[in-house]
Amino acid sequence: MKNNIITIPHWLDNIIYDEFKAIYEPRPAEVVYNPDQSFDFVRLYLGTYFPRSYAEAYGITTQILSIEGFLNRVVELEEINLLDFCCGTGGEIIGTIVALQSKLPNLKRVNVDAFDANVEAIRILHHLIPSVNNAPEMKVEININPQCIFIESEQEIQDIVNLLNVQYHFIMSFKAINEFIQHQTFKTNAYELIASYLLPLLSQHGVFIMSDVATKLNDSAMFYPQMMNVGLNNYIKKTSLYKSIIPASCFIHEGICTGCYMQDTFYINHRKKSRDISKVAYRVLCKSKFATELLNNRQTNSCRATNQFADKNSPYIS
Ligand SMILES: C[S@@+](CC[C@H](N)C(=O)[O-])C[C@H]1O[C@@H](n2cnc3c(N)ncnc32)[C@H](O)[C@@H]1O
Repeated sequence: MKNNIITIPHWLDNIIYDEFKAIYEPRPAEVVYNPDQSFDFVRLYLGTYFPRSYAEAYGITTQILSIEGFLNRVVELEEINLLDFCCGTGGEIIGTIVALQSKLPNLKRVNVDAFDANVEAIRILHHLIPSVNNAPEMKVEININPQCIFIESEQEIQDIVNLLNVQYHFIMSFKAINEFIQHQTFKTNAYELIASYLLPLLSQHGVFIMSDVATKLNDSAMFYPQMMNVGLNNYIKKTSLYKSIIPASCFIHEGICTGCYMQDTFYINHRKKSRDISKVAYRVLCKSKFATELLNNRQTNSCRATNQFADKNSPYIS
């Protein structure tokens, strides 16, 4: 991966466009809310947005693996547990696993718990994984348990958490929490609430990736990344149990942060499009002890959010 340019592997390109007849057709106005989308729309999602989620997760996981000291802690693992909250068709699951298998020589199996409201997306994911497992390029076996659940209150999140009795090396949510905010599912900050339920499921050296769209909220001057930062910083301050490792500047500043507009851009190549663009905002959190082990001796990154001279209207990731 160079300059965030990621090419979908040819075997995965063949699976989605030949085997699953996925369609590339961006539909920005329709993709904003997805629990009830039809099979035809989900096929379009698979051809258009799945590759983007693959690339975002591949890029973020590659960044995590390149943090000095991280790989040492996971390199011996033969089995990894992964939880995907609002998985859709699961592009981020495959992107994470492909990045992991390139650096973890002993990795044999990834156990995935994945939840989503959209029954068609869950169905596609259920059928996609055997094809991925059959690809000769996949050295790791994916053992997935995709479950269809519409979360309409905190109760369903509690139900999910109560169902799970393992600790996860990877917990993630990609481009989904904004949909809860649009529908005002919760009375409080959705990023904080969801993080508060999922973070306790992290293993000792586990990572929690929260990623979402970088656009503005409906009828508001606020951007989703600002809301994510407010929510996560609040929770981090309240509990002191977790800290950020990406962006590295958050590790230093999250306790005093007054908010920012972080954003990163990925460029994705596949047979239907070259340099497709995806802009997202993400934070990666770990247990405080592990984050401190990884980042304590690192050079302090400057942070635009706390710099009074910075242009706060210019999106960035540091
Ligand atoms: C834009 S898609 C992202 C899917 C996947 N994470 C990805 O990056 O490709 C958002 C997903 O969130 C799910 N979602 C939205 N609101 C939900 C809810 N209340 N309960 C469960 N899933 C929900 C949708 O069904 C959809 O699959």
